[in-house]
This record gives sequence, C-alpha cells and structure tokens, in this order.
Amino acid sequence: MKITTHEQLDLQFQGTLLIPVFETNEKSVVPIEFHGVSIPAEVFYGKKDTSYLAAKYDSLHLFIGLGKDARFKETRTIFRRIVSRNAELLKGNVALVLPDGLTEAQAMGVFSGILLGTYNAGHFRKAKTHPFEGEYELTVIAKKDYRALADKAFRTAQAQLEILKLVDLPPNMVNPAYLAKWALEAGERFGFTTTVLNREAAAQAKLEAFLSVGQGSEQEPQFIVMEYRPAKMTEKTRHIGLVGKGITFDSGGLNIKTAGMVFMKSDMAGGAAVLGTMRLVADLQLPVKVTAIVPACENAIGKSAFRPGDVIGSYSGHSIEVIDTDAEGRLILADGLSYLLKNYKPDTVVDIATLTGSSVATFGNECGALFTNNVELEMALRGAGETTGERLWPLPLWDAYKPDIDSDIADVKNYHSKPTAGAITAAKFLEFFTEGHKSWAHLDIAGVAFGDDEFGKSKHATAYGVQLLTTFIENHGYGGA
Ligand code: BES
Ligand code: ZN
Ligand code: ZN
Repeated sequence: MKITTHEQLDLQFQGTLLIPVFETNEKSVVPIEFHGVSIPAEVFYGKKDTSYLAAKYDSLHLFIGLGKDARFKETRTIFRRIVSRNAELLKGNVALVLPDGLTEAQAMGVFSGILLGTYNAGHFRKAKTHPFEGEYELTVIAKKDYRALADKAFRTAQAQLEILKLVDLPPNMVNPAYLAKWALEAGERFGFTTTVLNREAAAQAKLEAFLSVGQGSEQEPQFIVMEYRPAKMTEKTRHIGLVGKGITFDSGGLNIKTAGMVFMKSDMAGGAAVLGTMRLVADLQLPVKVTAIVPACENAIGKSAFRPGDVIGSYSGHSIEVIDTDAEGRLILADGLSYLLKNYKPDTVVDIATLTGSSVATFGNECGALFTNNVELEMALRGAGETTGERLWPLPLWDAYKPDIDSDIADVKNYHSKPTAGAITAAKFLEFFTEGHKSWAHLDIAGVAFGDDEFGKSKHATAYGVQLLTTFIENHGYGGA
C-alpha cells in the first residue's frame, strides 16, 4: 500500500471519505463539519469507538471518533475495525482526511490499522479479497506530508500480517520445514542470511536438548539461524541476539496435554515474532547487527518420543533430567541460547516464547511476563512495549527459586512438579543456560500471542512481539548508539 498526499480535497472527488475526528464535547454547539456535511453534537462528537456515516454529493462521508487523546494502539484498533468491517464501502475511490494536531503515534496507528484491517483469518475459505490489498494507493488529505511515516507504518503492518498468517495457519501446514523455508525466502527478499541445521546437522553440532524434543515427530526438526548485518558497521554497532520458541505443535509429548491442546499451533508464536522482527529490521535497514535463532520442531507423541525420566544432553554440555515432556519449550530455548552465546557473542540477548500457562494465570491477556537481570534492558523493553502497546511487566529471578530446578541425577531438571511459580522456575531454567550473560531478557508471551478479540470468532494470532522487538532494536537496545 502507498499513499498520495494532497492539501485539499479535489472538488470533483466522488467516493468514500474517511474522516477521523477528535472528540469535542457532547454539549458542543459547534457541529462537526466537513465538505458540506454538518453533524450536531447530539448525534456525533468524535467520541472513541463511535462513527457516523452520511451520504452527500455522490460521496459517502464516514466520520470516525478518535476520542480525546488516543494512543497508538487504540488508534490502530479504531482503523483496523473500520477497514475490516466496511470493505463494501471501500471499493471505489477512498480519501483519508487527517485532522491537524494528529500526533506521530496516532498517525502511525491510523496507517498501520488501515493495512491490518485487510487481514482475513479465513485462509481456507472461499477467497474474498479486501479492496485495500496489494498495490492499493490511498489518497490522503492533510497539511503535512505523511509519506515517510505511512511507509514505515505499512512496512510494519505488512510484517505483522505475515506473522498473523504464519501463526494462524494450521499445524499440519506450518511444520518446522515450513518455518525454515519462510526464513530462507524472507532472508533472500529482505537481506539477511539464513542457515538451517536439519536433524543430521543439529546432531553433529550436539544440539541434544533440541533434538530430544523433536525426536517423537515425523517432522524433521529445523534449527534456524539468521544473521542481519547493516550496510554500515563500526566498532560501536550494537549486536542483538534473539531466540524464539518454534514448537509448531505442542501435544505435551508423553505427558499429553489434557487441556487447550487445540490452541497449540500457536506454540511457535515466539519464533514467528523473531522471524517477523528479522524481516522488518532488514526491511527498515536498521543500523544494528541482529543474530536470531528459531529452534523449530514438533512436540509429538510417537514410538521414539522422549520420556519423563530421561536424562538428556544439551549444546552447553550440561545434562538435563526431563521431569515433564510438556515443559519442552525451555529445552529447545536452552540450546538456542547456548548456541547463540557461544557462536555469536551478542551484546544483548532476548528470548521470546509461549512458555508457561503460569504466565497466563498471572497476567491474563494484558501483558507478557518479563524476566531480566539488567535494569537498563528492562526499561528499554518496557519502554518499547509502552510505545507499541505490546506491554511487558516484570517478575523476579531471585535465587530463592533456584533449588526448584536442582536435580539429583543431572545438572538441572526441567520441571519442579509444583503448581506454583511456574513462569519463574521456567525462567530460572533458561537463566542457567545464559552462562551469566550480563544483558539477557526472557519474555513469556503465552497470554498475549494468541487471543480473543473482536477480529475473530475464536482465538487467533496477535503478532505480539514483532513491533515490540523491532522498536527495541531501533532504539539500539539501550544505552544509545
Ligand atoms: N506451550 C505450553 C505453554 C502454553 C500454555 C502456551 C498456554 C500457551 C498457552 C508449554 O510448553 C507448556 O506446556 N507448559 C506447561 C509446563 C508444565 C506442564 C511443565 C505449563 O505451563 O502448564
Ligand atoms: Zn508444553
Ligand atoms: Zn510449549
């Protein structure tokens, strides 16, 4: 999608006008007015989540309430809703009339909401395309030139659309090989290198924890490594490492799930967030080095599946006692983190995963759980989350929780067999594999990656993490350039 900007509406214009309006006042005596259409405040005064449609001079005027000081995410939702619900009205010419005083964040929300509004989760239903899809050129009426801002908003939303699809597509389609192919193709197209270790290569590299999780599945595990290097690099260029959980389906393994298995196609949402971030970072050509790993496999039940009680190896050389095969995410992330740290030595490492039901029990669907040993990193991630509306809230990594992962037989165990502090002990397990790195954060996104909202009848993808991580990287992690 592209825009053309004009200062004034062409008097000959015929079509649909989208007119966002800031909230005035219920009792305002001044009507809201545009292009000869006047609406008294009793009917519409710009309140958030309201709209007013009027037909005049062969044009439809859709007035859209913005509220008084809508933030980025609220503005994006307003526009996503308008565009997804009113496809019929948007078939002909469309002009977007932007008010003076729109903040940058609000303008970003408007443009990204417009593109996200084209998303249709009915990937296997009879095709219905939205008029805004493809090379659509939107007319924008505004005093400011919004081209650069709209371009960034559209690139961001495009990456999110891809990730919505990747997470929503079913697990018989999105298997580890599918993710690997996605990463290879995105790398070619946007400019990062992708290397994939298949079962044999991963075995040679001794990615033993990763391979243990994948060994019960017919689907070959794929350990995906991506490297983005900016065109200009100096000694000061920061290097950020990402690891995303890529379980394409989590049956629980032999500790088979008794609840919620139907949602477990979303167990690769952390990996998908990392894939989307790589695509967007490269597309925006951000001046930061990024190395990202998505260990991708399926946690299946089969004659060669790993068992509760098994002791397995890991890339780090530490042995792990498997108490519960459903605590598989931390096993593949452990190898992802060790591989990244040993081979790439990034300045900062962030992992992101749909890791525990416990984080959902704690925060519901409002925010991701943030664990970090670094206050500056905490502030940078939470700040990025406030900007993009993908919020994070901290939980502790106190050593008081460390005994929960002590094993009698191995260096560490993957589950404490208690109904308490599940998200924290999972984070302590990951911490064990970070080799004391001074700038590491773990984001448990089980409650925010896949949710219920007005854009679908059942739970669906949110693309949580793509814009959050990209914004964080754009801000150079923390501590400036
Ligand atoms: N993939 C799940 C976590 C999850 C739960 C994601 C709900 C999204 C929504 C993870 O692998 C898992 O099964 N965690 C268990 C661990 C426990 C049984 C050892 C959990 O948190 O219940
Ligand atoms: Zn699991
Ligand atoms: Zn899982």
